[in-house]
Amino acid sequence: MEQKVILITGASGGMGRALSSLFTNEEVKLALQFHRNHVELSESDSVAHFQADLTDENQVSQLVEGVISRFGRIDVLINNAGISKSSMSWKTDVSAWKETMDINLNAPFYLSKHVIPHFRAQKSGRIVNITSVVAQTGFIGTSAYAASKAGLIGLTKTLSKELASSGVTVNALALGYFNVGMIDDVPMDMQEQIVGTIPANRLGDPKAVFKAIKWLVSEEGDYITGQTINVNGGLYS
Ligand SMILES: NC(=O)c1ccc[n+]([C@@H]2O[C@H](COP(=O)([O-])OP(=O)(O)OC[C@H]3O[C@@H](n4cnc5c(N)ncnc54)[C@H](OP(=O)(O)O)[C@@H]3O)[C@@H](O)[C@H]2O)c1
Repeated sequence: MEQKVILITGASGGMGRALSSLFTNEEVKLALQFHRNHVELSESDSVAHFQADLTDENQVSQLVEGVISRFGRIDVLINNAGISKSSMSWKTDVSAWKETMDINLNAPFYLSKHVIPHFRAQKSGRIVNITSVVAQTGFIGTSAYAASKAGLIGLTKTLSKELASSGVTVNALALGYFNVGMIDDVPMDMQEQIVGTIPANRLGDPKAVFKAIKWLVSEEGDYITGQTINVNGGLYS
């Protein structure tokens, strides 16, 4: 991988932290977005931190311009920031529903909207949207999360068609259950139940996500677009 500029959202969370750290072994420049919590990886010539609330389109626009003014370009956008709030649909506050849509679906749209003109101008670019197996299967207590992540798959498909002729690919990774991030909010007995449903019989390691992203953003990935690639230990196919 030559010196690509990679913007990772949600770099302060479990998955974002792990991906950022794995990317430091590659010849890339990292623009790491955080919101309330800090980014673990220190700033350097090739690593920059950017604070932004991605539910605010103005802040997203400033983020994209900030990355371009720091590194000169953006080659890869990884829409990783996301939240999950659990409750039965009939008990879900409208505010929780809207917040979930804002972060999980509207923010990737804002980011794509502001990055795409640069990608079109340079006739290259990659967008990787992090979605969830829950969008494909449904899961009790996750109506807002599942709907937002299913929306992200629809956004991925349409963007891929709009941008294929500009040398830009757009794909989604549908993650199963991983050993970092959101899983920390799941009680241990429920984690054990979840593991029991995974054919691989273990939670995923972020390295699997990293390797899938690395492939998608490489030269070899230039004819793969509009796909939802499952990284789930066999949970759903
Ligand atoms: N971990 C898993 O097993 C799993 C499974 C399936 C899918 N996923 C997906 O993977 C992605 C990463 O999840 P994770 O497990 O790393 O979750 P996490 O540890 O909870 O991290 C969530 C990230 O989203 C950011 N964020 C939240 N609200 C934001 C806002 N308004 N503006 C900007 N950033 C905001 C957080 O920033 P601050 O902390 O700085 O506020 C944090 O960096 C999510 O899209 C999730 O749906 C994860």
